Amino acid sequence: MGSRLVAMGHYQPSRVLTNDELARMVDTSDEWIRDRVGIASRRIADTETVADMATAAAGKALANSGLTPADIDMLVVATCSSVDRSPNVACRVAAKLGMAAPAAYDLNTACSGFSYALGTVDHALSAGAARNAIVIGAEKLSDFTDWTDRSTCIIFGDGAGAAVVTATTEGEPSGVGPVVWGSVPAKSDAVRIEGWRAYIQQEGQAVFRWATTELAPLALQACERAGVAPEEIAAFVPHQANTRIIDGIVKRLGMPNAIVAKDLVESGNTSAASVPLALSKLVERREVPSGAPVLLFGFGGGLTYAGQVVRCP
Ligand code: UT7
Repeated sequence: MGSRLVAMGHYQPSRVLTNDELARMVDTSDEWIRDRVGIASRRIADTETVADMATAAAGKALANSGLTPADIDMLVVATCSSVDRSPNVACRVAAKLGMAAPAAYDLNTACSGFSYALGTVDHALSAGAARNAIVIGAEKLSDFTDWTDRSTCIIFGDGAGAAVVTATTEGEPSGVGPVVWGSVPAKSDAVRIEGWRAYIQQEGQAVFRWATTELAPLALQACERAGVAPEEIAAFVPHQANTRIIDGIVKRLGMPNAIVAKDLVESGNTSAASVPLALSKLVERREVPSGAPVLLFGFGGGLTYAGQVVRCP
């Protein structure tokens, strides 16, 4: 038994925040942000909550899948920016979409959240604990942004991406490869959203160094465990943190045939939402053929990382 991605969906708030607007708020420039991070603009939520954005993305994924809310028996939301303690975001989404009785929980591993959540869902579906699941990454990071701190406020954005994942039937090949996941406890303070009135703080250079030196071998491990050669990978969808990080990882992967997702240019860094958001757009634009192997790899706060090869829905 295994699982496979059936369909994707995403949601972004309509408000576009450009680098030039940020340059009127803090001492920065469009040129610095494009050169050092690679972001041109990001989307910022207005009254939408994390649950609203998660629901919108999940609703679209569901519509694209042909399944109904009643078919879903497992719902997992990866997020680090939900303000409410209870109910969790997954229960809110289940209520808003009118689901019957899904197992519903949130998972917080910050920017690696979607691949972590997909890993747990794949395990549950493979074990027969559920049949049809929705995995969502959703963030409203603008609630936790210090708009006077130029080192962080230029980076983050809001949005959500969702995948409908279903258990494979007997004889059907699995469409979700084994997850490679872990954390770096010694660097647990490198990205923080701490305390009651929390703002995102990070040791940017430490994260940058770690990401560009340690992650490529782990991403390659995910390919190896899926039995897919790097040359076969049709698309690489890493966490959308910084184009220089993405380029640094790509250089070490040896994936000449892979489209590399760089959705951060127009979406900013949306933490747990960044991977499903970017994948959903690739699918929507039909840039990757259905069934082609796609390498997902998330990394960030914790520090945590997780990735797997999936077959494109
Ligand atoms: O998704 C969560 C995981 N987080 C990440 O993946 C973030 C990884 N890190 C990064 O992407 C980069 O480290 C940053 C984008 C956060 C920063 O880029 P950097 O090239 O590492 O810049 P830096 O922190 O070394 O700062 C270089 C200079 C400093 O000035 P001085 O001390 O050299 O005079 C900063 O004060 O750039 C200055 N600076 C800025 N200048 C203009 C910092 N932020 C800005 C800004 N505009 N927005």
